[in-house]
Amino acid sequence: MKTLKQYWNESFSRPNLMPVFDNWLDKYDEYLNKDSGRIVDLGCGIGNNALYLFEKGILAEACDISEEALKKLTEIIPKINTICFDMTEGLPFENDSIRVLIADLSLHYFDEDTTFKVISEIHRVLRLDGLLLCRLNSINEIINKGKVSKSKERYLLENEGIYRRFFDRHEINHFFNENIWTLIHAEEYELDRYKNKKILWEIAMKPRYIV
Ligand SMILES: C[S@@+](CC[C@H](N)C(=O)[O-])C[C@H]1O[C@@H](n2cnc3c(N)ncnc32)[C@H](O)[C@@H]1O
Repeated sequence: MKTLKQYWNESFSRPNLMPVFDNWLDKYDEYLNKDSGRIVDLGCGIGNNALYLFEKGILAEACDISEEALKKLTEIIPKINTICFDMTEGLPFENDSIRVLIADLSLHYFDEDTTFKVISEIHRVLRLDGLLLCRLNSINEIINKGKVSKSKERYLLENEGIYRRFFDRHEINHFFNENIWTLIHAEEYELDRYKNKKILWEIAMKPRYIV
């Protein structure tokens, strides 16, 4: 097995990588403008979403475990603020400080306890009027390909030396407890950004506070 840092640094060291975005964030336009407040791209990679936002005049805070990814992103958007950290060790933001947190294909690499911990940290840092925009691997991706599990958990599969978690509606409800999250959008679809088509879940969640 590799560490996530090793795996992603190797992956982002490949030459000629350029950000490519689809327009999944269009529907959240009312939340994504210069006056929205702080916008974080968590697990930003080389900046597919950061570049989308930059073209709308928004400088997101670009966060990733991979220095290689952040180096490439800075070559593309020199003005961007990058922060290198491992989200499994907590998020370096104050409580209730972030308006929109985007986690595009970046929350599905962890075991169950760690996934709960990361999601709880996201809840902690989001403002009351904040929004989590997130895309996650769908279980239908592996069901369709007939992949075999070598995993210690049913939905967590080892591949290329790291684990990847796969989600269905039940898993989404399991990790995003309805007592503290309000689901405002959930949709499963195919993405053809990569060489192989991906099936993923897009979800938008608002934090809830119980008084
Ligand atoms: C599939 S890539 C997605 C990149 C980008 N969000 C996108 O949609 O193009 C997953 C990203 O999550 C980052 N990542 C994985 N584990 C992480 C961790 N523990 N802390 C911070 N970033 C992590 C990786 O470095 C990588 O950039």
